[in-house]
Amino acid sequence: MFAARQSFGLFQKRAFSASASNASKVAVLGAGGGIGQPLSLLMKLNPRVTQLALYDIRGGPGVAADLSHINTNSTVTGYDPTPTGLKDALAGSEIVLIPAGVPRKPGMTRDDLFNTNASIVRDLAKAAAEAAPNANILVIANPVNSTVPIVAEVFKSKGVYNPKRLFGVTTLDVVRASRFISQVKTTDPANEEVPVVGGHSGVTIVPLLSQSNHADIEGEARDALVNRIQFGGDEVVKAKDGAGSATLSMAFAGARFAESLLKASQGVKGVVEPTFVDSPLYKDQGVDFFASRVELGPNGVETINPVGKVSAYEEKLLGAALEDLKKNIKKGVDFVKANP
Ligand code: NAD
Ligand code: LMR
Repeated sequence: MFAARQSFGLFQKRAFSASASNASKVAVLGAGGGIGQPLSLLMKLNPRVTQLALYDIRGGPGVAADLSHINTNSTVTGYDPTPTGLKDALAGSEIVLIPAGVPRKPGMTRDDLFNTNASIVRDLAKAAAEAAPNANILVIANPVNSTVPIVAEVFKSKGVYNPKRLFGVTTLDVVRASRFISQVKTTDPANEEVPVVGGHSGVTIVPLLSQSNHADIEGEARDALVNRIQFGGDEVVKAKDGAGSATLSMAFAGARFAESLLKASQGVKGVVEPTFVDSPLYKDQGVDFFASRVELGPNGVETINPVGKVSAYEEKLLGAALEDLKKNIKKGVDFVKANP
């Protein structure tokens, strides 16, 4: 009982310190879905969030009513696709999380989702460009390698593109990498950090084991671990057997990224997260977006860290990733040009 009261007190203090001068509205688009619901729950539990706006084509108000009974200070409002629903959800948001879109079924690649999700993301981006042009846009909907360029093109077409405020959420890849390596080495995942660069699908996911605590993993063990990190999403798709893809681990990862961004915007220095952004690192090779470790700040992207020293094996992985990334990015850009 005493311990519970103590932790409540601590929570209240943190909530207080993040309130008033740091009003932070977070909008979740696709809030009724498998990711949207637990992600919204985690945002409701985050004391840095003062206002939570939950939009979905179905179920937004229901999820909002449910979460609104949780005794944290933030207000929660749900929105349906009424004529002003989406606009009202977006207005004044500091962070817009986009998990709206269909998930994979067994046998599908993330690119197979393009035909459905490209137009969903394009339309949500249009609304965001109009109602929340200065928000940080966090794209979760797959295929991330293409949906992020789609949002960029839409914002460009509306004259409000700020590359520092657009993020493809690749946090789940580093969360997995840290967990999987800890299983191989029987260590605490809290102490394991494996940089993962590139993009968010198959071979575009490039784990840099040489930069982890375990650069000594070689041969078959290394190949198996790299493969598991690259295709971790498939494990969940297979296990769910037609009922979707990762939702709970993704909500955890999305909430971690949003918290990092809020922390950075509230003045905490040295906040670094991997994320897929408009990046100078491989532009000379025709790859305009790339995931690497990015320092976050009040203006969004502060510093894009280079990939750093990699092994010959990782150099090869990077080569394959860049090939695919170029195609995935072009597909997103071409889609908006052909279907504005
Ligand atoms: P889901 O089907 O459970 O939920 C999607 C939600 O989006 C539904 O509630 C649906 O009504 C809503 N939606 C559809 N069109 C919409 C629109 N135009 N506006 C607002 N809402 C709309 O799917 P999920 O499991 O939550 O996955 C969502 C997306 O996230 C998928 O594309 C999936 O591939 C992707 N995903 C990405 C990562 C990542 O690491 N970036 C991880 C897991 C899943
Ligand atoms: C993941 O990595 O779990 C997501 O991108 C969902 C998927 O399709 O695998």
